[in-house]
Amino acid sequence: MKLSVNIDHVATLRQVRGGSEPNLKEAIAEVLKAGADGITVHLRQDLRHIQPDDLKMIRSTFQTPLNVELAVHANLDALFQHVIPSTVTLVPEHPHEVTTEGGLQVNFDPAALGVALKTLKKEGIQSSLFVDPDPTVIRQALLLHPDAIEINTNHYSLQPLDSPSYLEALEKIKECSQLIHNHGVRVLAGHGLNRNNVEAISKISVLDELNIGHSIVARSLYVGLQKAVREILTYLK
Ligand code: PXP
Repeated sequence: MKLSVNIDHVATLRQVRGGSEPNLKEAIAEVLKAGADGITVHLRQDLRHIQPDDLKMIRSTFQTPLNVELAVHANLDALFQHVIPSTVTLVPEHPHEVTTEGGLQVNFDPAALGVALKTLKKEGIQSSLFVDPDPTVIRQALLLHPDAIEINTNHYSLQPLDSPSYLEALEKIKECSQLIHNHGVRVLAGHGLNRNNVEAISKISVLDELNIGHSIVARSLYVGLQKAVREILTYLK
C-alpha cells in the first residue's frame, strides 16, 4: 500500500509569518527520504497554505508523483499554467471550512464533474474523486469513470478506537473499497488517519494508496518528519 503525504500544513505554518520557514522544499525532501511514495497538496481557492509557486517548485525539484486536491469548480487551465500534476483529486470546498468537510455530493453536480474529468483525461492526468463511504454515492461516482476514488475516512477517524461505531465505520470502508475495486478503479483513502487508527485500514488489501497529512506534520514536531512518516509506513509496507 502506497503513502502520499499531504504537506499542506508545513505551508500553513510558513504562511502564519510569511517568508520561507519552514521550508517546503526541505520538508518534502525529508518526507521522500523516509520512503513516502508521493506528495499531495490542496491548492485552496483562498490560498491559505499552498501557493501556486509551491507547485512550480515541487514539479521542478522532485520527480515524485504529485497529487493536487482541487475544488470541483476550480479553473483547471489556470492550474496547468503552474503545474501538470500526476493526479488531480476533486474535492468539495467551502470558503470557511477548517478542512475538507465531507465527500463530493456526486449527484448534485455530475455535469461539472464530468467536464473536469474529461479535461483531466485530455491532459493525461489521473483523476480521483473524494467520496464518503456510502455505496450509493460510490456507485454514482463510478458512473463517471474516474481513474481512482478516494474514500473519506474522516468519520472513521473520529470514532473511539475499537468502539461499535468505529467497527461499523471500518466495515463501511471495507465494503466500499471492495465495490470500487470490483469496478477496476484504483481505491484510495484518507482524512484523519494517524498512527493509532491506520493499522486496521492498512489491512484492506484492495486499497492502493493512503493520503495522510495533518497527523504526520503534527507528530513531526516531536520526532521529526522522517520518523513521523516511517511510523506510518511500518503499517503499509
Ligand atoms: N484526502 C483529502 C481529499 C483531503 O482533503 C485531505 C485533507 O487535506 C486529506 C486526504 C488528508 O487529511 P489529513 O490531513 O487529515 O490527513
